[in-house]
Order: sequence, then structure tokens, then C-alpha cells
Amino acid sequence: MRKKIIIDTDPGHDDALAIMLLAKSGTVDIEAITTVAGNATIAEVTNNARFIADLIGLNVPIFSGAEKPLARPLIQAVVHGSGGLAGVTVTKKEKLTGNAAEKIIEIVRKNPGEISLVVIGPETNIAKAFLKDPIVPTLVKQLVIMGGTIEAPGNKNRVGEFNIFVDPEAAKVVFDAPVRKILVPLDQCNNIPLFMEDFRKLKGSPLYRPIIFMMREFIKGISQFENTKGALVYDALAAYFMVNPKAVTLKSMDLRIETKGELTRGMTVADRRNWGQKNPNVDVVVGIDRSAFIRDFISLLSK
Ligand code: RIB
Ligand code: CA
Repeated sequence: MRKKIIIDTDPGHDDALAIMLLAKSGTVDIEAITTVAGNATIAEVTNNARFIADLIGLNVPIFSGAEKPLARPLIQAVVHGSGGLAGVTVTKKEKLTGNAAEKIIEIVRKNPGEISLVVIGPETNIAKAFLKDPIVPTLVKQLVIMGGTIEAPGNKNRVGEFNIFVDPEAAKVVFDAPVRKILVPLDQCNNIPLFMEDFRKLKGSPLYRPIIFMMREFIKGISQFENTKGALVYDALAAYFMVNPKAVTLKSMDLRIETKGELTRGMTVADRRNWGQKNPNVDVVVGIDRSAFIRDFISLLSK
């Protein structure tokens, strides 16, 4: 039984891989793509989303959403280069509908209990949908979220991961909402870098050239600004939960979002004490089978 999903995204190189993986997985029906500013501006990420959909022949509605966080100015990423998808030339301009939150509400209400929201950018659209229609969280099947970090350092400040850092107020709304949340944090993403030799295994795939061109630029950008080796394919790892959940280990945690800290903006503060009252609100991914991910990633993107 294919699962119905909405992908809320800010493409972004790793978002691109996540969308490709989900579209080719055979495990999901993509009801819509909603876009949010983060890796680049709302216009750029929306154009990038259409570019990726066209590249894989994915006929899906794209609804643009928030051009800035709930309560702060937008801080964009730098690792994805200018336009947010360095390595390819995106010329087609996608219409900005500006109704992502409304469409999330509409699709969830039409499919009560069936929609998984795959959230791979700042959580502004999701928060707006939940604030606008408070019954929606109870009608969503689950959220699969790329974001946060439990013990690993932040990638946008000392303790904050980019998606949560950009819009901590939105993340607080989402993490406080009565809905099942699966969280893929930096801790897991840092353990599964992909290298050019991995991407070269896609040779023969119609996606080989664009992926090679994109990943070459992404690896350059992420190593320059985050001193990492290889491509951290954050969002593809989050998407993988919808492809092969058996390859993923979860741990229920009580996790809150820091919205006030001067140095700790966007920190995902897990209560890791082994004593005291806990109020678990998220299933954190604490393990991903690396060889299964790489095996499935290569075979699905080679199709
Ligand atoms: O911290 C990684 C996250 O920020 C990923 O979703 C990446 O695409 C960027 O949006
Ligand atoms: Ca992203």
C-alpha cells in the first residue's frame, strides 16, 4: 500500500536527492510539493522544485509558501551556492501561489489519517497550517522531519541545526503539536556522507550527469563552509524512512526547542537525564543502516 505524502522543502541539493528518492521509491504517492524559503529565496527554491520534478518526469502540483520565518528575518544557507542548486542551470520560473499552508490543510482534511508530511526545510509552512487550523495535527498520519541535533554540534551555530535555527518559533509550534513526529537529526546525517565515487555508481542513469554536476558543487560548498568531507545528504536520509523504515532505529525522547537563547537559538534540547518526569514528544532516529541506504539510493536513482 503506497503511502500518501506531501514534501515540504527548500531545494537545496540534498532536498533534490530526497525528492528523487521518494519519486522513484515506489512506496509513496506524492500528493504535492510545498516550498519554503531557507536554502535560498522562496522564488529560487520554488523554481528549483519544478526543475527537479521536470528532471524526473514527476507531474506534481507545487505550492509555494513562506518567504520568511514566522517572527524573524530570513537567514539563507550558503553551502548550496547562489540560487540554491549550484551545478545546474535553472531557467524556468515557477508560479508563486503563496498558499502552501492552505493546501496542506486542504489535502490533510481530504485524507484524514493518511498523509505523512516529509518536512525537509524550515518548518514555517507546517506551523502556519497548524496555527490556522488546530485540528490538522490530529488528522496528519505523521511528520518525518530532517532537523535538529541531539549530541552532535550544530551546523548553523554552536548547537543549532539549520532548519530549526532558521525558524525556531515554527519548530516550537510543530514539536508541541499533538502529532507523531519522526526526527532525523545531524547525529545520523554526519555518519553517512556520500562521496563522488558513490555518485559515479549511478553511471548509465538518466540522472547521472545532473547529479554529478550538482554533487560536485554541493561537496565543494559544504566542505568550504562546514569543513566536512563528502556530501551530507541530510534530507535524503529523512526521506529514506518513507522508503525503508525497517533500516531505521527510533528512540522516543522528550525534546524541546530553544527560541530565546542568544547563543543557543534553535537548539533541540533533549532531556537525556535518566531521572525525572519525561514527556516524550518525538521518535528520534538513532540509527540508519548505512549499507542498506547506499544500496537502495544507488538502485533507485539508477532506474
Ligand atoms: O541542516 C540541514 C538542512 O538544512 C537540510 O534540510 C538542508 O537542505 C538545509 O535545508
Ligand atoms: Ca532542506
